[in-house]
Amino acid sequence: MAQDQAQAALRDTVVTVDHVSLDYRKEKEPLAVLVDVSLKAGKDELVAITGPSGCGKSTLLRIVSGLVRPTAGTVKVLDSEVKGPREDIAMVFQNFVLLPWRTSLENVLFGLGSRKDLTEEQKAEKAKAALDVAGLSGFENVYPGELSGGMKQRVGVARALATEPRVMLLDEPFSSLDDLTAERLRKETYTLLINPQSSVQSVILVSHNVEEIIELADKVVVLSGRPAHVVGELEVTLPRPRNKKSEEFFQWVDRVYTLLS
Ligand SMILES: Nc1ncnc2c1ncn2[C@@H]1O[C@H](COP(=O)(O)OP(=O)(O)OP(=O)(O)O)[C@@H](O)[C@H]1O
Ligand SMILES: [Mg+2]
Repeated sequence: MAQDQAQAALRDTVVTVDHVSLDYRKEKEPLAVLVDVSLKAGKDELVAITGPSGCGKSTLLRIVSGLVRPTAGTVKVLDSEVKGPREDIAMVFQNFVLLPWRTSLENVLFGLGSRKDLTEEQKAEKAKAALDVAGLSGFENVYPGELSGGMKQRVGVARALATEPRVMLLDEPFSSLDDLTAERLRKETYTLLINPQSSVQSVILVSHNVEEIIELADKVVVLSGRPAHVVGELEVTLPRPRNKKSEEFFQWVDRVYTLLS
């Protein structure tokens, strides 16, 4: 029975970060940023990574995406090792890196650029559908300069969604937005990503906003130290939808602060 459960848990793991370490080279000296970091993201799970500024959260996300190779350890999506950027992993960056000279639609198409299995027509269809899902139908031909911050961020989400990824990585996606916009996008993003119609099976969110984490996450992983390692992990069992004003909510927020301090 215990073995059955262990096997079921194994089957349901989508992302495995296994004993990952990373050294950057600075003036030929190695700078150890991450040491022996392990974590898992399961099916339909949103895992939040938090920790002090500069501790290596973005670096860890880049390693998961395949953009940066770890010095030691491995990252796997299901059974296959991540050895470079790949189509089943998408990332939304903090500062909505949109190409200003391209329309919303062209920015989303840009994310599909390398797909040789799709015709131009199919790409356009997927891009339009993703913009629609992100609440931007009617804004296909608008340039980023004419969009609000929240809308730009939604183009970034649409660009990531259009590739129909299995794993979605979000690096502080709401931090440069005003409170009201961020709050609305948070709600939208969760239901957009974690639902039976979505291609996305796991989400990893980097955030330093503890309330945001408790609002969204199924699990929190806290990084700290130099080099950074996992100093705490917490399953957030608070039922959804989560009431940000409830006492229970604040108890969960407190638990994360305790791990951070
Ligand atoms: N390309 C790079 N080359 C050398 N050092 C780097 C590089 N990128 C990041 N670093 C260093 O690695 C450390 C971790 O940076 P990282 O951006 O991952 O931190 P972070 O936790 O995301 O910070 P923040 O919360 O401020 O976004 C920092 O000391 C940073 O200076
Ligand atoms: Mg960062």
